[in-house]
Amino acid sequence: MENVLVADEVLVEPIITYERKFKINRLFSPDPELVLSHMDLYKGIKILDIGCGAGKLLSTIAELLDGCELVGIDIQAKAIELAQKFTVKGIEFKTADAAKLPFQKDSFDYVICTNAFYYIENKGRALMEMYRVLKTGGRLLLLEGIVGTTFKAKLDKIMRQSPFIKFSRKFLKRTTLLRKSYLISAVK
Ligand SMILES: C[S@@+](CC[C@H](N)C(=O)[O-])C[C@H]1O[C@@H](n2cnc3c(N)ncnc32)[C@H](O)[C@@H]1O
Repeated sequence: MENVLVADEVLVEPIITYERKFKINRLFSPDPELVLSHMDLYKGIKILDIGCGAGKLLSTIAELLDGCELVGIDIQAKAIELAQKFTVKGIEFKTADAAKLPFQKDSFDYVICTNAFYYIENKGRALMEMYRVLKTGGRLLLLEGIVGTTFKAKLDKIMRQSPFIKFSRKFLKRTTLLRKSYLISAVK
């Protein structure tokens, strides 16, 4: 089993380094950092990144701002292992399911989910969990790469059925080569 893990890391590490250097992932998905210009960052802010993968976005925020509390969760233990290895110190990473967040209610100023909501199996439950862990007045930012209209319609419907008091949606000007970048911003 250990050998399998080692083999995986040998393959995955150069891919992450390559992606970070050449930003190749932007061909396929919106750059997670697109959400930054839609955030108000300040000292003491608490941010949760859901489906954080290897932690690229949180790493960037940590470099921009001191004195914030950054937490990332991902359902894949392997992604969390990589995030812990590749990101700067001081970010908390946990293996967890978006549909069952291991946090108290009213904990975060922002919940961010980039290029991950599409993959989450229980989307309705996950959205309720995002709402629960946000502070009142806190904001959810959901960024997805959209092809066609089906997933966009599904997202819009699920947001309309959610308890968020208001939400806005837009296609961002800067898009990927293969998909449109769609951003939902919602307030608890
Ligand atoms: C395409 S990656 C996106 C990573 C990163 N957020 C980004 O924008 O580059 C999608 C991530 O969502 C995670 N994921 C899928 N279902 C999940 C769930 N139910 N709970 C938490 N994370 C999940 C996957 O493990 C994967 O790391």
